[in-house]
Amino acid sequence: MARALSVTERPRRSPSFCDRLPRGRLRLSASECTARFVSDTVIEARNLPRHIAIIMDGNGRWAEQRGLPRTEGHRRGSDAVRRVVRAARRLGVEALTLFAFSEQNWARPRLEVQLLMSLLREFLVSERGEILDNGIRLRAIGDLARLPPEVRGVLDPLANDSATNGAMTLTLALSYGGREEIADAARDLARAVAAGQLDPEAITPELLQSRIASVAVGEPDLLVRTGGELRISNFLLWGAAYSELHFTPKLWPDFDADDLYRAVGAYQSRERRFGLTGAQVKMLRASPSDTSENDSTIAPRAAQGLAQGAR
Ligand code: FPP
Repeated sequence: MARALSVTERPRRSPSFCDRLPRGRLRLSASECTARFVSDTVIEARNLPRHIAIIMDGNGRWAEQRGLPRTEGHRRGSDAVRRVVRAARRLGVEALTLFAFSEQNWARPRLEVQLLMSLLREFLVSERGEILDNGIRLRAIGDLARLPPEVRGVLDPLANDSATNGAMTLTLALSYGGREEIADAARDLARAVAAGQLDPEAITPELLQSRIASVAVGEPDLLVRTGGELRISNFLLWGAAYSELHFTPKLWPDFDADDLYRAVGAYQSRERRFGLTGAQVKMLRASPSDTSENDSTIAPRAAQGLAQGAR
């Protein structure tokens, strides 16, 4: 039976206990901190999503609603990134992937693109210490060659220096497009076929997947989109095939730790079936290695997904 961290109970210690710890010393497990940080959600410590991905939308509208330039929305969006990275780390998720700049975003006005790049650089510079101190591994996916040298100059060293960290992986999707990376993977296989090294009949989903760059960061269990739009906008198209989707009208600059916990609470109320029936899922949960009563082509994948999702 999963242990529930009831947030309706008043915390024994001050609610700001975790916030008051010195920066860079946040060695907190979910069981230590979750209950203190969730205001209206009950989260099971045992059934956390291992990987949360977020489409951070609504910066522009947040600014426009206040009569401010869009760029101010992006600035406040950066602050939300800092908050949410800390909240995810405290919660104990293994991976957080943020859609920070899409392949299509290059077509935005030049000044907006420049500001987004400089916010990204500022974030990487200002958070470097906290990322390293907290055992966070920073990675980036996307067409990184298009990023300006000022960004690569801070991104690459931080990715290198944090490469062996294991507390949480923070992946920034930058100049990223889901269709683009699937096309890259298809091109790779097509080259191998053209060179006579690969039989087209040998192309399976698993083989194609092995060439898709973002697969290295893992499939998101939970995909959150802020800003009220109900679409996934070319984000992690392959990896999100079985992700649980959570949409919130909150604009990204207003998104905070409680909103993240609400999304996790919603995730925990779902039954993940990976194409199976509810009865099969129950059986696999009880005995993950028993695939005898299942279609052998589906069951191993479902069993793997269920085993990964159920901690
Ligand atoms: C979408 O909002 C958001 C973006 C295109 C950029 C996201 C960037 C940040 C959150 C800040 C910088 C990132 C990091 C990692 C420090 P939108 O502009 O499309 O909003 P709208 O739909 O309201 O116009």
